[in-house]
Amino acid sequence: MRAVEWDRSAAALVLIDQTLLPGELTWVQCRTVDDVVDAVQRLVVRGAPALGAVGAYGVAVAMLQASAEEWSPEQLQEQVRRVRDARPTAVNLAWGADRVTPLMGAGVGAVLDEADRLMAEDEAANRELSRIGADWILERTGSDRVRVLTHCNTGFLATTAWGTALGIVRELHARGALELVYADETRPLLQGSRLTAWELAQDGIDYLVQVDGAAASTILRGLVDVAIIGADRIARNGDTANKIGSVGVALACADAGIPFVVAAPSSTVDLATATGADIHIELRDGAEVTAFGGVSTAPAGARGFNPAFDVTPARLIDAIVTERGFVEPDGSTSVESLVVAS
Ligand code: MRU
Repeated sequence: MRAVEWDRSAAALVLIDQTLLPGELTWVQCRTVDDVVDAVQRLVVRGAPALGAVGAYGVAVAMLQASAEEWSPEQLQEQVRRVRDARPTAVNLAWGADRVTPLMGAGVGAVLDEADRLMAEDEAANRELSRIGADWILERTGSDRVRVLTHCNTGFLATTAWGTALGIVRELHARGALELVYADETRPLLQGSRLTAWELAQDGIDYLVQVDGAAASTILRGLVDVAIIGADRIARNGDTANKIGSVGVALACADAGIPFVVAAPSSTVDLATATGADIHIELRDGAEVTAFGGVSTAPAGARGFNPAFDVTPARLIDAIVTERGFVEPDGSTSVESLVVAS
């Protein structure tokens, strides 16, 4: 099962509708740029590496719509830009679109072939970074069975397959080195309780869902050996944007003296962004915080503050792991070695 797929017979981008999980497993087809942008913005599809694939296939959607509706080259360019910019924080969305746009002149088949390659490379990257991350964690903790805390969803739903932080969890489980996972529920849209818990249950991995507010206490009480999170954008100095609440987990880990690990494919490393201060943090509708399931949870007129991501400074990160290896940032390290092949 994949969260993102191209259906060649239907000539459409097909996505698992993650807004309906875990209650309902259904797929949506995107045949227009409006469909793609709507799916990205409503979080039908989400997670940085999955958005990379959507960026690439979204260009193919735009090209097919351009032929059907006889768009000018400028109109097509504008629609590709809409796909690329549908959400601002995860660098992968623009990266995926930018990877295929040089092939547009060669036709939609060439764009689709490149998008398929991107998918295959992302899966391979996830599996490799999972092995590297599991090795690092077992060596650093000196333990042969670890208790892991994770935040948001970083499994196959958030990627092309397997997962990043959750890929490491799967790798630890496969090695018999995983005791328990604390899955933060992830306010306000519950990617942790709805999606991570669903994935862990399918794999038969032992887990507990906890409210985000419990994370620091669980860590300080000594119930966790390592926290592993994913990333939406890793700046050149190692500062990392991820789901809101991640930096609180990192602070608690630093205080408790346990490792805080960031896991991502190298496509999430953005050398063009110098530090976390340069990362555009998506601000979502405050109503996602002041209401739940369409029912108000705050007084009428209450305004919500709803940044979707935060930035964890590199000094709070013990290891950044990609398929190319790991760096242990100290605030002045560059993460360039995680992008440029040695
Ligand atoms: O708003 P979301 O659900 O797209 O946020 C996702 C995250 O923050 C993930 O941790 C990140 O994209 C990494 S997914 C492997």
